[in-house]
Parts: sequence; structure tokens; C-alpha cells
Amino acid sequence: MSGREVALRVEEIVKAFPGTEGEARAVDGISFTIEEGRFYTLLGPSGCGKTTTLRCVAGLERTDAGRIWLAGRVVSSHKPRVFVRPDERDLGMVFQSYAIWPHMTVFDNVAFPLRAMGRRRRGIPRAAIRPRVLDVLEKVQLSGYESRMASKLSGGQQQRLALARALARDPKLLLLDEPLSNLDAGLRERMRTELRRLQRTVGVTTLYVTHDQSEALSMSNRVAVMEGGRIVQEASPRDIYRRPATRFVANFVGRTNLLDARVLGGGDGGTLRLETRAGVLHAVCPEGTRQYEAASLSIRPEDVRLHVERPVSVPNVLEGRVEYRLFLGESVEYQVSVGGELLLSRQHPDVDLRRRTEVFVEFPVQHCIVVSDEHGSTAPPPADLDEDSQDGEPEGLQDARPVLGAVPPLPVLAGELPARIDEPR
Ligand SMILES: Nc1ncnc2c1ncn2[C@@H]1O[C@H](COP(=O)(O)OP(=O)(O)O)[C@@H](O)[C@H]1O
Ligand SMILES: [Mg+2]
Repeated sequence: MSGREVALRVEEIVKAFPGTEGEARAVDGISFTIEEGRFYTLLGPSGCGKTTTLRCVAGLERTDAGRIWLAGRVVSSHKPRVFVRPDERDLGMVFQSYAIWPHMTVFDNVAFPLRAMGRRRRGIPRAAIRPRVLDVLEKVQLSGYESRMASKLSGGQQQRLALARALARDPKLLLLDEPLSNLDAGLRERMRTELRRLQRTVGVTTLYVTHDQSEALSMSNRVAVMEGGRIVQEASPRDIYRRPATRFVANFVGRTNLLDARVLGGGDGGTLRLETRAGVLHAVCPEGTRQYEAASLSIRPEDVRLHVERPVSVPNVLEGRVEYRLFLGESVEYQVSVGGELLLSRQHPDVDLRRRTEVFVEFPVQHCIVVSDEHGSTAPPPADLDEDSQDGEPEGLQDARPVLGAVPPLPVLAGELPARIDEPR
């Protein structure tokens, strides 16, 4: 742990809504901690409980169980009963439909909440409002637009205005709920960088919610993947992608080849030997995986290497055949049959293999990951998957921790679990 203060701590919160078939838990026992200044993301498919979690933190929903601390102060608890009102939680919020006031100028959009605060005697002095507004508008690069009507701003500018308004009160925590999803694709990508730059400059602790894995991976210090009201894995973006703990995470974050497997026994250096329909493969795997236990193996398309000649003294090489190829410009995707499996391999565009070419397919052991079949709930995995890829080798395997109760810790990950964070002061 880095020794930073804890900005937000959420412990075992539950939130149920009455449904047609009794109560349904939108949030089903979620715990996480965000250190000061960090950018923390809840990532998951629609309906997994991201917004509800955020609204519990904001105080817009009352939790059914669990506790929430902000900067060491309990803001929500059942025993003893504590509930701090949203406007007393010192938060900035931007939601998907960032409600700026179109009939007000840019300046007034930011100044209005500050003036309202002033009237309740908890705000900043009147004379300080103007410099504060100008300062925060400069931070979001809207200097010079002060007197423009908010409705006359472009989508990206409106987005930045919503941010400026959220930041003007100098909140302890910034809550962002899919703030980029209303923007078109190009702008969305630019705003990612922009938002992250701004967050770093201001240094505000941020809890970000998105269903978009590229946003989550590119912006966050830590990512918690949610499924069915629970967090199924929390790790660095790299480890979420490179060391998925469950089938669901492997599938939801990026594309992957998932193979059913049977454990044959131990291999060298803490690996396992697995029988798959493609053939026998070695993989890195969870501790305590028993022999002959069913397992799943995840290997990313960019990790499946193709050779025309059999590589010498390399493990995990199987014979295969190119069945199909898709030239995508920046890469070529090959569908390769290996034994009884059809696997996806992503290659550099220079790699030029014809259909029906016999190839040797290499599955680097360190990229063959045994994943758990556990689910966050009965919710089915999403059907439509976004595509993204990421270069680079895993730098540290110790940082990923599956947090779903029933998922055994991966030994390759278990080396150095972050120390428990003590009761915030
Ligand atoms: N006010 C509400 N009343 C009833 N059900 C709700 C309410 N808010 C959310 N839900 C349900 O809770 C689940 C989680 O919703 P939500 O937190 O909005 O998910 P996400 O933001 O991840 O898409 C969904 O099944 C949703 O229908
Ligand atoms: Mg939502």
C-alpha cells in the first residue's frame, strides 16, 4: 500500500429494489477502497449495479446494509444509524446526462452552486466566487467562454462545463457516471485523455463508472469489474486485462480464446498441465486447483503466435491450420483450427498466411491463464463485446486480486496482496 490517505471506503454495501419477483439486489455486498488522488473505476455491463453503487456513495440512495466512509468519516451506516445528506458529503458529481443549465451563461453555470452554498453559510465568501469560477474554467479550458450561453457550447464543451461545475466546490471526491457516453466516438476518445489530465492536475480523487472497457483501462489507477451487483475482480488495468480472474472478466474486458480444460497435473515452475480440445497445454493457474478438476483457459488473440516452421525447444506448440483470415489494416486476424478448437490469433499486418496453410501454433505459457467459472450472480455474461487490445507484457502479477468470495486466489497473483487498510482516521 502506498501510504496515501483513504478518500473513500465502502464496506459490504447492499441495496435492493422491490421488483416483480420480490426484492432484487442491485448492489449485493460491495466493498472497495480508494486512496486519495486516485482514479478508480467500476466497470461492468449495463444493469450490474454501477450507478446504484455511485448513488449510494453520493447519498442519493439509502443502503440496506454496509457502511461508507468519506475521508475517514462515516457517512452511511446501519448500526449505529448514520446518514449524511448528499449536500453535506462534499462531493462533485457528473452524470451521463450532465445537466448543465442551458439558459444560463457558462460563468453562471459554475457560479450558481457556489452562490447557493454561500447563502447557506457554508460556502465561500462572495468575493472569492469570481476568481474561483475563472480558475476552474481555465482548468477545463473554457477561458474566454464565460459570457456565452451554455446551450451554445459544443458537446465536448458542455461536458467540460459540467466538470467545471462539479470541481468548483473543490470536492473531496468526484463521482462520474458514464460522463462520456453521450459524446460521439472521436470526441469521446479525446475527452478520455482530457479528463484524465484534468483529474491529475486538480488531484481530485475520482470514482468513475463505465461499461466501456477502453475507458476503464486507459484512465484508471484501479479497476473493479462488476457482475450482477458484485465486484468480481479488482486490479490494475493491466492485470485486469492480462490476469483475468474469471471467465466473465476475460470475456468482458477485451476479446479472448476461452477453452474448456481438464487438469492433468502439475508442470514446471508452478504451471499446470491441461487437457483441452486443442491439445495438452501448460498454463499458469490458481493455487489449490486439484487434479482432474474442470477449468477454463483464457488466452488473448494477440498472444497466440503462428509459425511456419516448428519452433525449437519451445513449450506449448501445437499443430494447426489457417481456416480464415481477416485483414484489418492495423492487424490481421486468423482463425486457426487446432485439434477440435477454432482459435483466434491476432498478428502484425506483415504476417501473410494463406487459408489452409499448416502452421505451428505457440501458446506462451505465461499468457495461458486458468480462469474461474464463478459468476457475480446468475446474470448471464453480455452477448455483445467491445473490442480492444493492448500491447505489452505483464509487469507485475501480484496486483490482481479476485475479490469474489468463492474465487480461489491465483497463486501467481497471491504473492503480494495489498495490505489491509486500517480503519480510516
Ligand atoms: N430505482 C430503481 N428501482 C428499481 N430497480 C432499480 C432502480 N435503480 C436501479 N434498479 C435496478 O438495479 C439494477 C442495477 O441498476 P444500475 O445500478 O442502474 O446498473 P448500471 O448502472 O450498472 O447499468 C438493474 O437491474 C436496475 O433495473
Ligand atoms: Mg448506470
